[in-house]
Amino acid sequence: MGSLLIRGGRPLHGRLKVSGAKNAALPILAGTLLTPETTRIHNLPHLHDITTMMELLGCLGVGLTVDERLGIEVDGSSVTNVRAPYELVKTMRASILVLGPLLARFGEAEVSFPGGCAIGSRPVDLHLKGLEAMGADITIEEGYIKAKAPGGLRGADITLETVTVGGTENLLMAATLARGTTVLRNAAREPEVVDLAQFLIAMGAKISGQGSSTIEIEGVPALQGCDYTVMPDRIEAGTYLVAVAATGGKVRLEGVIPTHLAIVLDKLREAGADISIESDAIELDMTGRRPSAVAITTAPYPGFPTDMQAQFTALNTIAEGVGRVTETVFENRLIQTHEMNRMGADIQIEGNTAIVTGRPTLRGAPVMASDLRASASLVIAGLVASGETVVDRIYHIDRGYECIEEKLQSLGADIRRQTS
Ligand code: UD1
Repeated sequence: MGSLLIRGGRPLHGRLKVSGAKNAALPILAGTLLTPETTRIHNLPHLHDITTMMELLGCLGVGLTVDERLGIEVDGSSVTNVRAPYELVKTMRASILVLGPLLARFGEAEVSFPGGCAIGSRPVDLHLKGLEAMGADITIEEGYIKAKAPGGLRGADITLETVTVGGTENLLMAATLARGTTVLRNAAREPEVVDLAQFLIAMGAKISGQGSSTIEIEGVPALQGCDYTVMPDRIEAGTYLVAVAATGGKVRLEGVIPTHLAIVLDKLREAGADISIESDAIELDMTGRRPSAVAITTAPYPGFPTDMQAQFTALNTIAEGVGRVTETVFENRLIQTHEMNRMGADIQIEGNTAIVTGRPTLRGAPVMASDLRASASLVIAGLVASGETVVDRIYHIDRGYECIEEKLQSLGADIRRQTS
């Protein structure tokens, strides 16, 4: 099992190119199932989760051709199977995103029921309720969600009880081929949902309102192939900005959409960073200062992203002052704080809030990653700590960060992968 060995205490400096967004690429790849024609997707990140989604598409019978420039050609004419097996779904919950497209195009789908994960129970009830409202007949048998709509799906007016990114994406994809109009209310407004909608529009779907909380979709009989470039990864960008800020360094991030990071940049400014913005670049300079503690409360977009919570908790551990971090989206997403305390951090948990009292420094220690963003936060803690930190179980990090050690090395970090 791999680990990362970090010798911390150096300010990071340099420039980085941001990769394609994992959380946009996954639904877009699932969305290719909506057409028998060929789609070409560009700017895919090299990540485990992307490979898993490609494996899943391959297992459904889709033809895939990968080029050397992070692109993939998907031929949806050869789908022979509508069952997403347990072996793949258990390694990646986002596999549930094939449910809507398969059901919409083939009138049936079977997807292994995704279990809970380290950050909470993560149900998919709203995906299923929405599909039922569109006329699907859904049963759960032997651990599989079995969905049928032999006469096709029909448009429906659906209000999502909770803002759900995956639920909005699944229903959005399903609605593109449904008979009539679907309205999704209390829809997720995340940029990744908008990117998926733009991809579907490029395939001929009729969608309006993406990026607002009401999305309207007028079903069409068929979708066509297209060429599409995945948006930049705002969470990867935010993670590097926090890592640089925590070490007191300076960075220029390129190939990024600064508006997607508005609230994250506000919090970094509050922590003391000088930030300047261009149309597709962000420069952050901490001028060697120790950050000030910041208060965070996670919420659906445009609120503070839960996927940036752990990284800001790491920043607060070495900040001046006390920072309260409240997690409202997932029930069990403060677990990394126990590992940080092992590195000398002072974090108390009260319900869904972490009260982080900043210390001048952390001490390196062996720590264990429990989920994707938690592992990124432990890497940040390792980069600021004195001495050696070994972050174990980094398969979590490879699910969401492309070449993390190379990118950090290019900024001057002393970090290397160990395979034993
Ligand atoms: C996506 C992101 C993940 C991010 C999360 C919230 C992908 C692949 N993953 O996850 O990185 O942290 O959005 O921004 O894009 N819920 C229900 N019933 C449902 C669906 C969700 O109760 O049917 C609840 C969840 O338990 C959670 C909340 O809704 O408390 C938000 O979850 P959701 O937005 O669906 O997260 P994902 O799409 O799984």
